[in-house]
Amino acid sequence: MAKQPSFTCTDCGASHTKWSGRCEACGAWNSIIEEKPLSSGPGKKSLGNVRGTAIELTDLSTKDNPPKRTVSGVNELDRVLGGGLVDASAILVGGDPGIGKSTLLLQAAARFARNGMNVVYVSGEEAAQQIRMRAQRLGLEESPVKLAAETNLRDILTTLDAEKPELVIIDSIQTMWADNVDSAPGSVSQVRAACHELVSFAKKRGCSVVIVGHVTKEGAIAGPRVVEHMVDTVLYFEGDRGHQFRLLRAVKNRFGPADEIGVFEMTGRGLTEVKNPSALFLSDRDKPAPGSIVFSGIEGTRPMLTEIQALVSPSPHSQARRTVVGLDGQRLATILAVLEARCGIPFAGLDVYLNVAGGMRVHEPAADLAVACALLSAREDHALPADTVVFGEISLSGALRPVTQAENRLKEASKLGFASAITPVQKKLPDVDGMTLRMTDDLVTVVNDIFGAD
Ligand code: TYD
Ligand code: MG
Repeated sequence: MAKQPSFTCTDCGASHTKWSGRCEACGAWNSIIEEKPLSSGPGKKSLGNVRGTAIELTDLSTKDNPPKRTVSGVNELDRVLGGGLVDASAILVGGDPGIGKSTLLLQAAARFARNGMNVVYVSGEEAAQQIRMRAQRLGLEESPVKLAAETNLRDILTTLDAEKPELVIIDSIQTMWADNVDSAPGSVSQVRAACHELVSFAKKRGCSVVIVGHVTKEGAIAGPRVVEHMVDTVLYFEGDRGHQFRLLRAVKNRFGPADEIGVFEMTGRGLTEVKNPSALFLSDRDKPAPGSIVFSGIEGTRPMLTEIQALVSPSPHSQARRTVVGLDGQRLATILAVLEARCGIPFAGLDVYLNVAGGMRVHEPAADLAVACALLSAREDHALPADTVVFGEISLSGALRPVTQAENRLKEASKLGFASAITPVQKKLPDVDGMTLRMTDDLVTVVNDIFGAD
């Protein structure tokens, strides 16, 4: 049979049998590239026909020691890793170019090295001199980190074999070149091969490997998505270039909870930890403002308060605008539809702008009610008292659904000086000091009683 060419989406990793401008799986444009099929043929016997070596099977009840971890001392990083760096683990750190991945990892490398670890930092993007200049700016030049500026993976692995480090940082996977694969660095095959080599090295030699991957929109360079499945932990470093705050988010972690976040601030001297992120994402809130609602959310294991802002204005265009920053656009569309269909509040002919303050991104469905309140507050020009927080999930019927960790959300709000909350009806919710609750079980009640909308 003729070999089928294979096409892969560099954004989501889905395979397709033919090229197209748009990936059907994730909807990304210009992200599909061709991949060479693996060689097979008469000379190569199928695995089932040639006997290999029998492997030893174990059972589930065998007691193992918990994995050994090393802490960096940067609490925000250690927490995202699940309580420190696990020995011989492979970690992928993804993020937009220029967001601060190299800065974060150089700082982390310096901390680990100062704690006595043998750390090697390999950069395929910058010359050793550039990295030294950055280290000087960050005040890290005295840290015993070993540096190399190299892209040839064979040479890198040979060096690491002799050096026997405990931690290697590879910046970035898109610049690495495995000479046994004939395609350009940054292509899907190269990125996959290089990542496979590095992960095998980590497991065989007991050395942790941190791999940097740029998130790319262009089809020519493979993004970190195509190797997510190979590594133990996937962290994404995100944030808005216009803001100084950066979030390190665990999206996969074999050694700890996923969805945990660490919060950093980019300063002139590198990234500093933000110990109490809740207050950070709220703008100055002395006076109540229409369209601005504080959402009490949970990020990973921590409660975090964020401000959701909406602006609703008559549209001069035939098709009204929907602009969303920091939230899912589909979610906004759903909430607008529920407000219209279940509560009789039309948004046709109105431009809607929705924004999460401070460059934060909110993924929780518990933000639904805060979004709806922001929209209503903007539309009706009716501000809620500045000391009110909101959370709750909205179902398509217009009912409000209870959310997890309601007590933690309220406690955090109370700690930051908030005195009232609009929430769904939650069972078994103990009193939280100083908080007055307004529980409702449907959106219509919120619309009529709180906003008095017509
Ligand atoms: P970098 O770590 O090079 O990003 P990445 O590796 O993700 O591509 O970060 C680059 C940005 O960080 C650059 O715009 C400058 C800024 N920066 C600071 O603001 N302060 C600093 O101390 C450093 C080192 C960088
Ligand atoms: Mg970099």
